[in-house]
Amino acid sequence: MTSENRNGQVVVRLDGVRKEFGQSVALDDVSMEIREGEAVAVMGPSGCGKSTLLNMIAGLDRPTAGTISVHGDDLGALNETGLALFRRRRIGMVFQFFNLLDDLTALDNVALAGQLSGASARESRKRALELLGELGIADRKGNYPATLSGGQRQRVAVARALMNKPALLLADEPTGALDRESGGQVMELLLDLNRLGQTLLIVTHDPRLAQHCATRLVEFEDGRIARESILERVA
Ligand SMILES: Nc1ncnc2c1ncn2[C@@H]1O[C@H](COP(=O)(O)OP(=O)(O)OP(=O)(O)O)[C@@H](O)[C@H]1O
Ligand SMILES: [Mg+2]
Repeated sequence: MTSENRNGQVVVRLDGVRKEFGQSVALDDVSMEIREGEAVAVMGPSGCGKSTLLNMIAGLDRPTAGTISVHGDDLGALNETGLALFRRRRIGMVFQFFNLLDDLTALDNVALAGQLSGASARESRKRALELLGELGIADRKGNYPATLSGGQRQRVAVARALMNKPALLLADEPTGALDRESGGQVMELLLDLNRLGQTLLIVTHDPRLAQHCATRLVEFEDGRIARESILERVA
């Protein structure tokens, strides 16, 4: 499976990406490719540039130098409106602290992602409900985030990220705020999604998450790729 994945179509390509914040260099000459069907884990010490990498790929920020392309489209060629559309339609993002809207129900948090990218309210709610069902939390559709457990919130966040069938799902410490059991459920969910073909890029401090879910590990140090390895996923 791993070797097949390595032959898949390139989803994301980074070429000589550098990112400076004032005097400090967050990413230094990073080149990598992610292919369709891969689940790539990114690990490395705090401050080594992992979140910066995800933000660049999501089009939330722009590199100081180098290029990033998604399915061959150079993000550098997009203006701000184009980047916002790209982010809504082609990328799904999951964060450590969920980033759900407190005054919307689980269903509306998910459906909103569809409406923001141009789908009707009706279509969006229909797909949101299907996704909540697939992720095992349809019975919580009317709950506000404050009344959900951490694991349930993260599943809502994953459903939201999947609304627009993203080419790439980016996850930044998706289990970082969860207890062992809820974290385990989110790990299973990510593994299932990848088995169904979803391409993943997961930043984590948790070696178990990388071992369990990822097909490839990329280790960063000081803004650079220090090591890369193919993982043999257990089971
Ligand atoms: N918006 C910003 N303004 C200034 N410096 C920043 C900004 N974002 C990140 N940095 C700096 O860039 C470097 C990389 O930060 P980044 O958040 O990517 O690290 P990280 O690997 O995600 O760390 P952690 O594991 O703690 O989340 C750090 O030195 C950080 O201080
Ligand atoms: Mg980070």
